[in-house]
Amino acid sequence: MSVASSNRISRDAALAAGLLAQGGLVAIPTETVYGLAARADDARAVARIFAAKGRPRFDPLIAHFPGAAEAARWVSFDRRADRAAERLWPGPLTLVLPRLHGLDGPLIPDLVTSGLDTAAVRVPAHPAALDVLRLCGFPLAAPSANPFGYVSPTTAQHVVEGLGDRVDLVLDGGECRVGVESTILDLSGDRPRLLRPGGVPVEAIEDALGERLPAYQGFAVPEGLPAQAPGMLRSHYAPRIPVGLYEQADELLAAARDLGPDCAVVAALRDPRIGVASWEDLGEDDVSMATRLFAALRRVETSGATRVLALLPSPQGLGLAVRDRLIRAGGGRQGGDAGPAGAG
Ligand code: TXA
Ligand code: MG
Repeated sequence: MSVASSNRISRDAALAAGLLAQGGLVAIPTETVYGLAARADDARAVARIFAAKGRPRFDPLIAHFPGAAEAARWVSFDRRADRAAERLWPGPLTLVLPRLHGLDGPLIPDLVTSGLDTAAVRVPAHPAALDVLRLCGFPLAAPSANPFGYVSPTTAQHVVEGLGDRVDLVLDGGECRVGVESTILDLSGDRPRLLRPGGVPVEAIEDALGERLPAYQGFAVPEGLPAQAPGMLRSHYAPRIPVGLYEQADELLAAARDLGPDCAVVAALRDPRIGVASWEDLGEDDVSMATRLFAALRRVETSGATRVLALLPSPQGLGLAVRDRLIRAGGGRQGGDAGPAGAG
C-alpha cells in the first residue's frame, strides 16, 4: 500500500457523509463486507460506482437505509416484509420489494435497480454505517467494495488494495463481523424466494416469517433478472488461482498430500502439517467459517500455491452461504474433484 492511499483511510463518519453528499464515492464498513457507497438518489454519483468497480450496468445495486421507516418511503412493504424487517433489521438481510413511484417516476433511479420494477433494500447492523446513513439523510447505493468479480473486502485494507485511488475515502470500521454478503430475499412475488444465501441463515428467516422457504435454487437465474446478471454468475467471488472443491475431508487430504507446496487448503480443519503452501483453517463452526472465508481466499493467492483445495461445509446455518461462495470461487463446479485448472 502506498502512503498516498493510506491517507484515504479515516474513522470520521462526518467526513464520509460530507463527501457522499457532494456525490463522492466512499467505502463504508458494514457487518457483512465493505460497501462502495454513493448517494442512491443521484444517478451521476451511482454511475461512478459502476466505473470504479468495472461492473456492468445490468447488475442492480442494494440501497442502504438507517431504518425500515426510511426504506418504506422508497419501496412497498407488505405484511411479510414488515415482519422480516421487524425481526431481522438492522442485519445482514436484503429484501427485494416493489419500487414506489413519485410524480416524476420511480424514486430510486433506474441505474440503481437496472430498470427492474423491484429494488433491493437493507439496513446494515454496523454502528459506523448507521452513523453515516443517519448523517446523510439519503439512502446509499452500495455493492461490495471490490473490483468486479473479485473476492469481497472484509477490511479497510482490502478495499485500498483493490480500489486504491478510485475511492474518495475508505471509512475504517474494523474487520467485518459476519464476513459474507447479506442474504437476499425476494418478497415481491406471491412466495418468498431466496436469491442469495448470506449472513442471515435461512432458518432464522423461516422462523421470523413463520413459513418455510423453497429450497435455494443455486445458480438458477431468477425471473426478471437478465440471464447474465453477475451476482448470479458461477465464477463470481473468485480468487486468481483455480479452486477445487471437495465434499469429503479424506479426499481433500489425499490430494493435498500429493500436491504439497503446490496447493493451498481452505477448510474447517486443523492443520495436519503436511507441508502445503498455506493452510487456512476456517474454524469450529459456520459463523467462524463465514467470518474467515474471504480473507483466507485472499491469502492463498500470495502463498505460492498454483491451486486451492477447498472443503465444502454442510449447508446448515451460515454453511449454506459459505458453500455458495466456495462453489462460485470454484467456477461453479460442484463435487469432489479438483478438475483441470482454469477456473480462476
Ligand atoms: O452484504 C451485502 O449485501 C453487501 C453490503 C455492502 O451491503 N452488498 C452487496 O452488494 O453484496 P452486491 O452488489 O455485491 O450484490 C447485490 C446483488 C446483485 O448482484 C443482484 O444480484 C442483487 O443484489 N439485486 C439487487 N437488486 C436486485 C433486484 N431488484 N432483484 C433481484 N436481485 C437484485
Ligand atoms: Mg459483490
